[in-house]
Amino acid sequence: MSQKPADTTGLQQAFSYPRIVSEATPDLAPVIIAEIKEKGPISFSHYMAQCLYHPKFGYYARPKSVTVSKEGDFITSVSVGPLFGKLLALRLHRFWLANGSPSSFSILELGAHDGSLAGDILSAVEKIDPSFAKSLSYVISEPLPSRRSVLEAKLGEKVTLISHPDELRCKIGALLANEVLDALPVPLFFFSQNQWHEALVALDENDALTWDSRRADPGLSQNYPEGYVTEGSPDFTEFLAPLTHCFQSALHLWIDYGLDQESLYHPARTAGTLRCYRKQRSNAHPLDFPGEQDLTADVNFTAVENASSELGLQVHPIMNQSRYLTYCAKDWLLKNPDPKEISQFQTLIHPSQFGNRFYALELTKGTVDRAFP
Ligand SMILES: C[S@@+](CC[C@H](N)C(=O)[O-])C[C@H]1O[C@@H](n2cnc3c(N)ncnc32)[C@H](O)[C@@H]1O
Repeated sequence: MSQKPADTTGLQQAFSYPRIVSEATPDLAPVIIAEIKEKGPISFSHYMAQCLYHPKFGYYARPKSVTVSKEGDFITSVSVGPLFGKLLALRLHRFWLANGSPSSFSILELGAHDGSLAGDILSAVEKIDPSFAKSLSYVISEPLPSRRSVLEAKLGEKVTLISHPDELRCKIGALLANEVLDALPVPLFFFSQNQWHEALVALDENDALTWDSRRADPGLSQNYPEGYVTEGSPDFTEFLAPLTHCFQSALHLWIDYGLDQESLYHPARTAGTLRCYRKQRSNAHPLDFPGEQDLTADVNFTAVENASSELGLQVHPIMNQSRYLTYCAKDWLLKNPDPKEISQFQTLIHPSQFGNRFYALELTKGTVDRAFP
């Protein structure tokens, strides 16, 4: 596939070596191997999509494996405890009040995973304001049928499950997604011999997964060191466009780890940000354990902001999670909170835990009072 074999040393150095030989053959590996045998090398983005979202063997499609939790492969702000959901419920309540306490208000959550955040938000809303609870319908958009079954079993009639955002049309509401953008498949690029290449996934002589490449133009300059590896962004316009039609007026809230474009593509960031999470460690190789480890990359927030703005959303200043949640928590903090919740709050805002690496990006649609801070 490549015109002239590119030097993949940069790629090899960007990810840990030696490769780990898994004793068990993951279920997904034969599927990917068969596809490469039939079609030739595949893009990394397609490989990542298969690893995470293959409907049967993808990492997120296996409802029985414990992935997001202290006992699983990695934790999120949701795993810290119910306070995260409570603070977001307070934020949404403020938005609801400022916009006339509408009698019908929908929350659309993406990436609800096992339904923990939805459960935390719904319990908090009941206590914060029963009339807000009464007006609320909680909708989860989940494309994977196996995940929808998990959510249905856990949350039952408390939520409405849909498989695509196109199924939702409402007057006013809020969209909410924690750590979803970092889980969208990304292309992988590297710079070698004054030329950009896209990393492809191929087979070696023993049918093990290995790197191949093809020339590419990721839209970056030529001023990068030999062997520089980085990821491209997902097509955010394509991803976000259907979400802009769900509500006539809305608040959209994206929380995730990421960087602005300049920092993400800084020449000193020579190995990019692609990581694999497995058993609370992030140093596995992306071609090992297909479907059995998480693959993730930092979100290019500049690209998200640009795509949102082109889609007609109003973009508000992004802030780190520490500052954002402290604003959301203001009234709660003044009410002498429970020490257990204070401890969760510290984890969520501490600079070395979730406070500085994570950002909250709010967008609005229509003429709304954002009511923030
Ligand atoms: C890192 S997990 C985050 C889970 C949860 N939000 C949390 O914070 O604990 C990413 C989730 O995003 C989901 N996801 C990815 N693409 C999605 C899409 N287009 N629509 C809805 N969920 C999606 C994945 O299935 C997975 O459950």
